[in-house]
Amino acid sequence: MKKTVKLHDRTFEVMIPAAEIDSAIDRVAERINADYAERVADGQSPLFLGVLNGAFMFMSELVKKVDFPCELSFIKLASYCGTSTSGQVTELIGLRNNIEGRHLIIVEDIVDTGESMEHLLRSLEGHRPASVEIVTLFFKPASFRKSFPVKYRAMDIGSEFIVGFGLDYNELGRNFKDIYVVTDN
Ligand code: IMP
Ligand code: MG
Repeated sequence: MKKTVKLHDRTFEVMIPAAEIDSAIDRVAERINADYAERVADGQSPLFLGVLNGAFMFMSELVKKVDFPCELSFIKLASYCGTSTSGQVTELIGLRNNIEGRHLIIVEDIVDTGESMEHLLRSLEGHRPASVEIVTLFFKPASFRKSFPVKYRAMDIGSEFIVGFGLDYNELGRNFKDIYVVTDN
């Protein structure tokens, strides 16, 4: 029987073991190393921007496999109900680096519909970076509704709900080294 774990009211079982995640991160890091080699040689060290909380574990594993000098920083998207007519307001917090003219690589745990990433891209635009790419541990192609490119995807999955490796179910499960999928849908 597969190892299961209960988080709040739902039951999860292992879907992707840690070793498989590690290999997928290896492959995506290799692509980033190849793509950025030229810029780094020109003295333009990229800035990896991790999106909290979900990206903390992926960020730490990814940058260990990056073979060029780079800067790291973390940001957070805070949503709250504002009084504006649009209702939902998303604020970008934690951006302390001057990113004008910098090559940014946004690090995310998962891109699902793409809604939150679109907000983030819009917020970063005003800071005039030289380039922006996205690296995500998981991508859900069947749910994605946007047109911006998600260049670096470690793994594509279906529409199932997963936890582990930074991803949570109501804040639980982020610490698991394997990926678990919900079983009692
Ligand atoms: P999006 O805005 O629809 O792309 O959703 C992005 C956010 O939804 C992610 O940053 C996660 O916090 C959350 N999310 C989407 N799918 C999952 C999942 O399968 N497990 C855990 N969180 C998820
Ligand atoms: Mg997230």
